[in-house]
Amino acid sequence: MPVFDPIEYKINSRTNWNTVAPDYHYGWANKHVGPFKSTLEVVRMAEINPQDKVLDIACGTGVVSSEVSRHIDKDGLLIGVDMSRTALSIARHSLGKSNINFFEMDAENMAFRFTFDKILCQYGIMFFPNVGKVLDTARKMLKGKIVLAVHGTAEDVPYFSSIMRPVLKHIPDIRPEGSPNVHRFGNATDLKEELERTGFSDITVARHVFSYDAGTFDEYWHDYMHSTANSIRKKIEDMGNKIVQSIKEEARQNVSVYTREDRIIFPWTVIVVSAS
Ligand SMILES: C[S@@+](CC[C@H](N)C(=O)[O-])C[C@H]1O[C@@H](n2cnc3c(N)ncnc32)[C@H](O)[C@@H]1O
Repeated sequence: MPVFDPIEYKINSRTNWNTVAPDYHYGWANKHVGPFKSTLEVVRMAEINPQDKVLDIACGTGVVSSEVSRHIDKDGLLIGVDMSRTALSIARHSLGKSNINFFEMDAENMAFRFTFDKILCQYGIMFFPNVGKVLDTARKMLKGKIVLAVHGTAEDVPYFSSIMRPVLKHIPDIRPEGSPNVHRFGNATDLKEELERTGFSDITVARHVFSYDAGTFDEYWHDYMHSTANSIRKKIEDMGNKIVQSIKEEARQNVSVYTREDRIIFPWTVIVVSAS
């Protein structure tokens, strides 16, 4: 089993997000489909005031920032940070106001000298190898509220697990042991404990179950392989057609319970946590 190296992981992750950012934005995030119904919930929970200074960590292509921008006026400030240059260029393209700034930055190395009224992070926290460091920095910069959105457990987000379980069964070492994964904080208690450990209080947890229409099985498979599994697709394909076909057939079985008249409609649990 390969050993997890956080620097190598971040380099690969950045390359991957640079590749998938346009499809991610135009096919998912900006359409507010499936899990992205949470964007409104995250911003609503943050209770943004017009003059707030807001930080959007791992802002990606800027969908949360875009929603925040509707709530702040010219005296407010919005800063988005992300390590993907392509994602940031999409965010900058759609949000051009002078009090909205996007910076290419590793969330584990943020060094702002001023404080923020609100800090948001939608679908980012599970990707940081050193979550404690990010939360600790966030707590020191925060005057008001932090709101985090994460995906639920593997059982609660079958879009991911229906393919990933067979992949891991056939290729257990596809990722180094200890690599971050999308379900890392799927159990809300883990995120609550992480926040408490870092010194946050007033923690509230909201659980949402959205639905996502993934289309036919072939559409789902293609979409998954070119988005979520983009970084490991070559390793899967290199295993040869026999293994790929086995993974595909097991995934087909897994989604049958969510399939109606050839279309797969997945339930999708999202957890939104706020703290101060
Ligand atoms: C699933 S996207 C979420 C983007 C955005 N928050 C949204 O809701 O659409 C995850 C983002 O985390 C960013 N990311 C991952 N690790 C990061 C890190 N260490 N520092 C900054 N950004 C990171 C990726 O570049 C990617 O844009």
